Amino acid sequence: MATVLITGISGFIGSSLARGLLAEGASVRGIDNLCTGNLENLEDIRTRIDLRRADILDIGAINDACDGIDYVFHQAAIPSVPKSVVDPMGTNGPNLNGTLTVLEAARKAGVRRLMYAASSAAYGDSPELPKTETMLPAPISPYAVQKLAGEHYLASYTRVFGLETVALRYFNIFGPRQDPTSQYSGVLARFISLMCQGETPTIFGDGSTSRDFTYIDNVVHANMMVAKTSAPVAGKVFNIATGKRITLLEAYQEIKQITGYSGTVQFKPEREGDIRHSLADISLAQSVFGYRVVAGFREGLEKTIEYYRQTSPQAIAAL
Ligand code: UD1
Repeated sequence: MATVLITGISGFIGSSLARGLLAEGASVRGIDNLCTGNLENLEDIRTRIDLRRADILDIGAINDACDGIDYVFHQAAIPSVPKSVVDPMGTNGPNLNGTLTVLEAARKAGVRRLMYAASSAAYGDSPELPKTETMLPAPISPYAVQKLAGEHYLASYTRVFGLETVALRYFNIFGPRQDPTSQYSGVLARFISLMCQGETPTIFGDGSTSRDFTYIDNVVHANMMVAKTSAPVAGKVFNIATGKRITLLEAYQEIKQITGYSGTVQFKPEREGDIRHSLADISLAQSVFGYRVVAGFREGLEKTIEYYRQTSPQAIAAL
């Protein structure tokens, strides 16, 4: 049975991975500084994990956390484009130096493989769609630069030190437990929680901005597949998405239909650092390690809306 470390375990993606890995019989350790994560995300599995409160830049704590670990799933980050525009230096610490800290600790501990939450933001705004891993990255926001630089550190640690690393470029992940409460929250979490409470969502731009919105189960599946594959994945980068593109207006309309929201939507100017369109070519992950889309957009939306409906407005506000 494998022993795994999840950084950012109390976040939306980290806590979902923890559930998936526990279900596979893994022994799960996690670290989090609770900066953007939330202990409530771990409520049902709290007694089954070795949870440590530590900062991703605390090399001593990360060294300890990597001791005896087979696989690292590095999810800790400040995952927001606009936040990085407001505070490039403050976000560079956790997003880039944090990744280097985890790589260094993993190398010293002899970890078998490290999976990294990379971002489709690395592709930037080039008009060519879909995005394939061979395209030259063109990051726009500081966040995209930080995430892309992390990928290069991974490749370096594989080449120079022989640590097996894999970068999974996530495309707009959504699902239950994604924090909807901040202006920096992911757009679907924001739309759904607002519309479930009868409040008006905001579209930045004219609504034609599009994303390859990817339900969380696909990310959990991808991480588990890539961790255990015997295919040559070390030092490589893979898109994790659905291969379909939805505009913000379409997403809003689908949520409206499912929730029965009867209000309107307001439009505001585009945000600085945003990219217009994002769509993945997922054939590399499919052919190399058997990734597949286990849940599509509509199914994901329905499950996510169900979750927010069961979470009271007070509980959401307290997140
Ligand atoms: C998202 C992730 C990022 C990840 C990247 C690629 C979040 C917060 N960001 O970035 O971590 O690396 O995908 O996987 O999850 N928008 C609105 N109304 C709102 C909020 C946002 O119209 O209330 C717009 C934004 O201006 C943007 C689009 O929706 O055009 C998507 O924004 P967002 O959900 O923040 O995601 P990304 O910036 O694409």
